[in-house]
Amino acid sequence: MGASPAVEDFDLVIFGGTGDLALRKLLPALLHRFADGQFGPHCRIFGVARDAMSDAEYRERVRPALVAAAGGNAMTVEGFLARLGYRSLDATRDAGWDEFARTLSAVGERVRVFYLATAADVFVPICDRLRLLGLATGKVRVVVEKPIGRDLASAQAINDAIGRSFAENQTFRIDHYLGKETVQNLLALRFGNALFEPLWRAEHIDHVQITVAETIGVERRAAFYAGAGALRDMVQNHLLQLLCMVAMEPPASLEPDAVRDEKIKVLRALKPLGSDAARLTVRGQYRAGAIGSEPVPGYDEENGGGHARTETFVALKAEVENWRWSGVPFYLRTGKRLPQRVSEIVIAFRAIPHSIFGPNAGPIAPNKLVLRLQPDEGVKLWLMIKYPGPGGLRLRRVPLDMSFAQAFGVRHADAYERLLMDVVRGNPTLFMRRDEVEAAWGWIDPVLEAWSASDETPKPYAAGIWGPSAAVALIERDGRTWHEDAQA
Ligand code: BG6
Repeated sequence: MGASPAVEDFDLVIFGGTGDLALRKLLPALLHRFADGQFGPHCRIFGVARDAMSDAEYRERVRPALVAAAGGNAMTVEGFLARLGYRSLDATRDAGWDEFARTLSAVGERVRVFYLATAADVFVPICDRLRLLGLATGKVRVVVEKPIGRDLASAQAINDAIGRSFAENQTFRIDHYLGKETVQNLLALRFGNALFEPLWRAEHIDHVQITVAETIGVERRAAFYAGAGALRDMVQNHLLQLLCMVAMEPPASLEPDAVRDEKIKVLRALKPLGSDAARLTVRGQYRAGAIGSEPVPGYDEENGGGHARTETFVALKAEVENWRWSGVPFYLRTGKRLPQRVSEIVIAFRAIPHSIFGPNAGPIAPNKLVLRLQPDEGVKLWLMIKYPGPGGLRLRRVPLDMSFAQAFGVRHADAYERLLMDVVRGNPTLFMRRDEVEAAWGWIDPVLEAWSASDETPKPYAAGIWGPSAAVALIERDGRTWHEDAQA
């Protein structure tokens, strides 16, 4: 990772500079890029939030998060803090904005990144102010976090409003799942090997599973989550983006639009779920239970009650209606307070057409390719082999197992490290284009509508199990099971 050259001096401004994302992800990611020598000598980082604070107070506030990220390298933290400033600004008030504009402009023309790590309702006022202050021109980029809006209409309104200030090629809609190592490895695996592509289609693939399971609850984002739920928070963006990376046709190159043109075709080919939502989707909400041996409260009681309709779990069955994927189900599931933190994509191949082995060989399980995004990034290819030794020809399914950390012995870089530097370098390949975001909402909206028209509330599941039993039934009624590594 340290091999990329330093980039020319840039300014990066984080709106929401005291928030969870800034402290947990953005500042640590920037620290690592700084430590790897990627910052030019005069780069500046600014945190912006409403609280009144001096630069020195802000540095003290973020220091613990940086020290934890630096793994004992105090020199690096001090060097980074020296680049870090703070401005107190409120999107709804004029105070401070002129001075802020002067500070930025004082160093002349350079790459300038505005990262909107704020609630979506202030995206537009911030963008308007940046334009009116003359800060939205030149080598300027704006980064917006998902979810953009809460349905298609609100996403269009936000995109239109951002578009008044920033051109599409200046707008970086981040989905940090696209920065995860394994997602990029999916590109390498599919398009850097001749082996898989001929098999990557309905004739050879029985189904695909995408699981993003978390053990955590909603943490410090209770208010946002109560109004969003797992479908908007995870499926509309992360899971659909993963589905696109699996299902898209080979792009002609890694040029931003070459990749994104292929992804949008997948989104547009998704079979609408609306009228079948009751059969093809499952939503759940966790009740009290235990994660490992740790007891945890239920979602609603943890968050003060009144959220009976917010789903913390979703499972659904999607289909991509085109020649390559016709008839291949894509089972998606995501949830909070599940037994393990694990994100993976499972490509389940078809069974062999005929067995030459007698009954004593044991069952011949179909091949599976498992791409694990976290916690231990890597690839497993499950193959049938002969069980060693005498005693007849018995077959077993075993994994060809590659853990990236073991194979390369490199530090695990967080997705934000890669993506932040892509913004600075002006490379939007791994960011969502406007039409993708809107196409994804176009597919999600009918599900939201069907759910809100129904009297049913999300099905309960105890914290620490794999969601409601209906999620198991969703796949088992098709004669399939959710992948579990231990029993593959
Ligand atoms: C965020 C969601 O986009 O992704 C969170 O808003 C979720 O609810 C998080 O916890 C998961 O990210 P990761 O990288 O920890 O899998």
